[in-house]
Amino acid sequence: MIRYLTAGESHGPELIGIVEGLPAGLPLSQDAITLQLARRQEGYGRGGRMAFEKDTAEIVSGVRFGKTMGHPVALKMVNRAYERDEDNWPRVMSSTPVDGPVERITVPRPGHADLVGVQKFRFDDIRPVIERSSARETAMRVACCATARELLRYFGIQIGGHVLQIGEQGYDGWDNVRSAADPLLIDGAEKLGMAADASEVRCLDDNLTELMVEEIKKRRKEGSSLGGIYEIVVTGLPAGLGSYAHWDRKLEGILAQAVMSTQAMKGVEIGLGFEAGRRHGHQVHDEITWEQERFGRTTNRAGGLEGGVTTGMPLIIRGIMKPIPTMLKPLKTVDMETKKIQDTRYERSDVCALPRAVVVVENVIAPALANAFLEKFGGDSISEISERYRPAN
Ligand SMILES: Cc1cc2nc3c(=O)[nH]c(=O)nc-3n(C[C@H](O)[C@H](O)[C@H](O)COP(=O)(O)O)c2cc1C
Repeated sequence: MIRYLTAGESHGPELIGIVEGLPAGLPLSQDAITLQLARRQEGYGRGGRMAFEKDTAEIVSGVRFGKTMGHPVALKMVNRAYERDEDNWPRVMSSTPVDGPVERITVPRPGHADLVGVQKFRFDDIRPVIERSSARETAMRVACCATARELLRYFGIQIGGHVLQIGEQGYDGWDNVRSAADPLLIDGAEKLGMAADASEVRCLDDNLTELMVEEIKKRRKEGSSLGGIYEIVVTGLPAGLGSYAHWDRKLEGILAQAVMSTQAMKGVEIGLGFEAGRRHGHQVHDEITWEQERFGRTTNRAGGLEGGVTTGMPLIIRGIMKPIPTMLKPLKTVDMETKKIQDTRYERSDVCALPRAVVVVENVIAPALANAFLEKFGGDSISEISERYRPAN
């Protein structure tokens, strides 16, 4: 089973990741990880410095001559701002006590972990909370999860995501969305993801892309922010992954945890999801077929899972991301020290991070799926797994 840990603060020297449980013999290159990191950095709605530096995660253990050894894979990513001594970060984030005062942050931002983090750890400064709760952490999470994604890819399981809605702009109904996406799934979901990558907002529809960009411009001008709804599709999953036999083995529960553990995610649905609550049963359940010696379904409203187990149909996960909490137009808050009401301070921030967050979620579900795959077909090496891998018909 694959486990991973991340460590590091946004402006500390490095982000560190360890992935344990990858089988031996999996081709794994730094390029595969860099690709996902680059996709995570692209998208309309980024704030501040547009000429951001490209993230790279260096593989420092567990891979020899381009293949995993079955040992833990350690990854490290340098934080350039720290390295360049920008804004005094080596002093602000020093691991040893420093001489003289360091500016404390005492004004919590609503929608962030600022206040609850201070209440929880009894800090007198919000800085440590900001440093760890920020979505900078998703850079290393993506790097770690990209390794599990490579395992899935090896066995023909592909992941692709796209944006359905940003603020007021989006598709009319989910059924329209899926049929529009279907031709993109024939060769695997990566084609869908690549088509979405071509849009500044990762939307498959050109008209909607324009409207979404306009929506972001409008909210930026107002000093506000946006979230939205996205869809992740996984193709090539064999039937029978996951289990109905015990609650903690149900795959939708495991996937929901992966999605909801991502910063700013406030909802997740599988298949029709919430829409199923507005329909009667015959408009929801997928009839079973037997064609060309295989079981199938006439429709895929269940989104590829029944009873917590994959059906062999594409897995459809939808999630919602809340609007970014840091906004140019301030919100009211209270200074922790003086207890006086005051405005939030603005720091460089995205207006809408949804197009980038789609890539994060594409990757964070990979270990959950890889583990369901390994549970059924697992072994110590890729060759052992290949001998066992036989999809159900
Ligand atoms: C890819 C990504 C980028 C984000 N960028 C920002 C940002 O620039 N500014 C911001 O205030 N929040 C940003 N967020 C959201 C915050 O990290 C998140 O809302 C905050 O940590 C509070 O956690 P919660 O929303 O899960 O409760 C981003 C989230 C993701 C997934």
